[in-house]
Amino acid sequence: MKALILVGGFGTRLRPLTLSVPKPLVEFANKPMILHQIEALKAIGVTEVVLAINYQPEVMLNFLKEFEAKVGITITCSQETEPLGTAGPLALARDKLVDGSGSPFFVLNSDVISDYPLKEMIDFHKSHGGEASIMVTKVDEPSKYGVVVMEESTGMVERFVEKPKLFVGNKINAGIYLLSPSVLDRIELRPTSIEKEIFPKIASEQKLFAMVLPGFWMDIGQPRDYITGLRLYLDSLRKQSSPKLASGPNIVGNVLVHETAKVGEGCLIGPDVAIGPGCVVESGVRLSRCTVMRGVRIKKHACVSGSIIGWHSTVGQWARVENMTILGEDVHVCDEVYSNGGVVLPHKEIKSSILKPEIVM
Ligand code: GDD
Ligand code: MG
Repeated sequence: MKALILVGGFGTRLRPLTLSVPKPLVEFANKPMILHQIEALKAIGVTEVVLAINYQPEVMLNFLKEFEAKVGITITCSQETEPLGTAGPLALARDKLVDGSGSPFFVLNSDVISDYPLKEMIDFHKSHGGEASIMVTKVDEPSKYGVVVMEESTGMVERFVEKPKLFVGNKINAGIYLLSPSVLDRIELRPTSIEKEIFPKIASEQKLFAMVLPGFWMDIGQPRDYITGLRLYLDSLRKQSSPKLASGPNIVGNVLVHETAKVGEGCLIGPDVAIGPGCVVESGVRLSRCTVMRGVRIKKHACVSGSIIGWHSTVGQWARVENMTILGEDVHVCDEVYSNGGVVLPHKEIKSSILKPEIVM
């Protein structure tokens, strides 16, 4: 089986992290987002993943070549010369996706995280006999997603409305599809949206079916959702009694500490924290609801909550970093400084407090 991951887009909503690496390579729970997906695809028997890319392909490919052998899956690239949207890339990669066997292929948005119940999706696709299966999930704020109205008993989609202005329903497109090759006959090679042009058409012919995703789901393409997504992901690890979760007297709730990270005496870590490779967390530090990326140093008695600390940054002694502060790569927060929601571009030094949420360039 084959799969295509939509890797385009500039990831602007996840800046300043995406100023350093393409969005799919930003680590989530100590692993690049895209690896969560590739591993899930591999686990259900996908042998070839096509990355539909229009931005920084060399960075992606360098990284993934190393990974290809480790995971034992073929990763190829389908590169656009102009952004083709969410459907155009499928037309471009047509020859890579169809192998003559008529078997369906997966398509994934690169920024969604879940338990990826892909096996269940294959069974669902076989059972309904339509052309396309999509995974849906319920959310409180449907307006920023594609909304699906479906027949509950069969899953047949009656309407698909991308980012509706008026309330249509609260089941939304989770960005995980299983498509029969005939869907490709509907897509022209030009910039085009699968959500606006292709799904509504298939739905009108009663050939689009939706399956309610069991378990958690989040689009982690924005900082607030990324932090929420980490909580849901770690909860899910807890339910599976995963040995990856840290334990000990200084751990509260669900926490990941990379094996190469060092945590000092008298710290209190958690809940919902991921500490990346090579990090040094000095003594007496308090961390909650945050991600600390590779190579970060958090100095003595600092306190970080509800924030993302980018690669190789440092947080000074007694500093307090909170409320959706996002530090880009290699940012240095001086001792005793306070950041309330600062979004800091890479390579900056923060010498005075950031009192209200703002972008620091
Ligand atoms: N190759 C390629 N080329 N990929 C693209 C392009 C492009 O021109 N534009 C966007 N993508 C990729 C993004 O990288 C992402 O993986 C995916 O397509 C969806 O784009 P987003 O920009 O993340 O869309 P969204 O989050 O606003 O909405 C989409 O996802 C929601 C679920 O998270 C839609 O599919 C909604 O219907 C859905 O509910
Ligand atoms: Mg998205």
